[in-house]
Amino acid sequence: MTASPPAPLRLGEGRGEKATLPPPPSPKRRGVGGEGETIVVLDFGSQYAQLIVRRVREQRVYSVLMPYDATEEEVMALSPAGFILSGGPASVYDPGAPQLPDYVLRSGLPVLGICYGMQALALALGGKVAPFTRREYGPAELTIHDLDSPLWQGLPFSLQVWMSHGDAIAELPPGFHALASTDNSPVAAMGDPARRLYGVQFHPEVVHTPLGKDIVRNFLYSICGCAGAWTPESFIASTIHAIREQVGDRRVIGALSGGVDSTVAATLAHQAVGDQLTCVFVDHGLLREGEAEANVKQFREHLGLNVIMVDASERFLSALKGVTDPEEKRRIIGETFIRVFEDCRGEAFAHDAPPRLPKSPRLRKSGRANASPFLLQGTLYPDVIESTTKDTKAAARIKTHHNVGGLPSDLQFELVEPLKFLFKDEVRDVGLALGLPPEIVYKQPFPGPGLAVRIIGEVTPERIQTLARADAIVREEIEAAGLGREVWQYFGVLTPLRSVGVMGDGRTYLNTVAVRAVTSQDGMTADWARLPHAVLARISNRIVNEVAGVNRVVYDISSKPPATIEWE
Ligand code: XMP
Repeated sequence: MTASPPAPLRLGEGRGEKATLPPPPSPKRRGVGGEGETIVVLDFGSQYAQLIVRRVREQRVYSVLMPYDATEEEVMALSPAGFILSGGPASVYDPGAPQLPDYVLRSGLPVLGICYGMQALALALGGKVAPFTRREYGPAELTIHDLDSPLWQGLPFSLQVWMSHGDAIAELPPGFHALASTDNSPVAAMGDPARRLYGVQFHPEVVHTPLGKDIVRNFLYSICGCAGAWTPESFIASTIHAIREQVGDRRVIGALSGGVDSTVAATLAHQAVGDQLTCVFVDHGLLREGEAEANVKQFREHLGLNVIMVDASERFLSALKGVTDPEEKRRIIGETFIRVFEDCRGEAFAHDAPPRLPKSPRLRKSGRANASPFLLQGTLYPDVIESTTKDTKAAARIKTHHNVGGLPSDLQFELVEPLKFLFKDEVRDVGLALGLPPEIVYKQPFPGPGLAVRIIGEVTPERIQTLARADAIVREEIEAAGLGREVWQYFGVLTPLRSVGVMGDGRTYLNTVAVRAVTSQDGMTADWARLPHAVLARISNRIVNEVAGVNRVVYDISSKPPATIEWE
């Protein structure tokens, strides 16, 4: 059983460790491709489940997170090479507690259960789990009993691990023996080497288990027999192939935002289908200062893509009039984007011969495919994870990322989302492998809905202007201080707060701007950046002096979780 640990783990975890780019997965999975070497992480509700996926990918083995109650068909379609069972907040004997699905053991594939996952494994195999007399949270010294176990290959006799559990194995299942213990846990790890089934009570995926990555590597290479073929280059090759297969001879509209994700997606699609791709850059009027011009330059100079520019700012602004609810803003922006893309289909393919009829009888019959090109989006794995409400009770919908949850139900496009299974830093590695220049690859993330989500309350032209100027100052000062690469993301937020101030000899009653700057590895978790006071002072001073309508600047010192990176 996993409960909140005493000290929150920040996902500065792994910071400094360069994530080796991903490798591809199951052969038939569109947009990912690969050698069929996929590790499926079954999510029992752990706050670290995504971290397990990352740890596996860092070892050049592709991994995906699936809810514990995903169907056998869905999971086995990934051709897994092994399973990792995550921790979870429940106790295995709680009514309705998630149990190990039958097919996992039936598959005969190797399994590594972590914390709750180990207990679920023990229970399913006839072992016993009981509430622990003394809950164990935090660091512990692990003593290894069986140094010959493949799980411990290359590890010392004793190592530091991170524990977080209230239940423990009271009786090992038949065929298992204890592989390690701590002072408090006689069974801190268990294994049945004949069936390649293993469990660890601690969390190898967190940085607080410094040798955790060696344990993960042992499981992947010595137990599952993985070869570790997942690299940026293999991802590119298999993804280009997958895009060609999906698109055939149809056309693709590429939604281009100027950011690294859509640029990498468009570059991949361009290599896959060449002139069948036309990119559209929509100026929704919610861009940062100077961004529209910088993007046009980027498209022209670096990418060699066919790009249509659409100024739809009036349309977006009028759709957002009077709207203050952040989810409603996202929904409106998502829908308006799609409508703009639909409207520019004619222009995008004006010089083309009429599209050919699709080969598939199903698509011919639907009557849609003829008229509808694909829509290419740079959706990332965190967008997918965070936009999905799972019934595992493990993860609630946090927000609707516009390019996922905000799609209208009568969408006229089929989607091509080649980055849907990658984390941001993995996309950057792919970008570098594609030969994109560093100024594109290391651009800081900017949300699709733009400044609309950074203006708390109603979005008006005046408020956009105020924020755009304040935000430009934040960026200028952080970059001038040489911190642009160290800080993951930095921007201004226009709060709905007005307060009394004094300027000259007069009273003011003006807006408050919040400054947000965070360090992160993939945006899934983040910590506030310890910006030098001198930099903060310059930012504050310049904003109140240069931006009309602002008399107060605050610095956000919240980490994610519990906050998020964006304010909305
Ligand atoms: P939060 O605010 O959820 O943001 O901590 C995590 C990361 O995602 C970015 N973000 C978005 N990116 N479309 C995007 O492409 C969106 O709708 C969106 N919303 C947030 C955010 O800037 C941060 O890097």
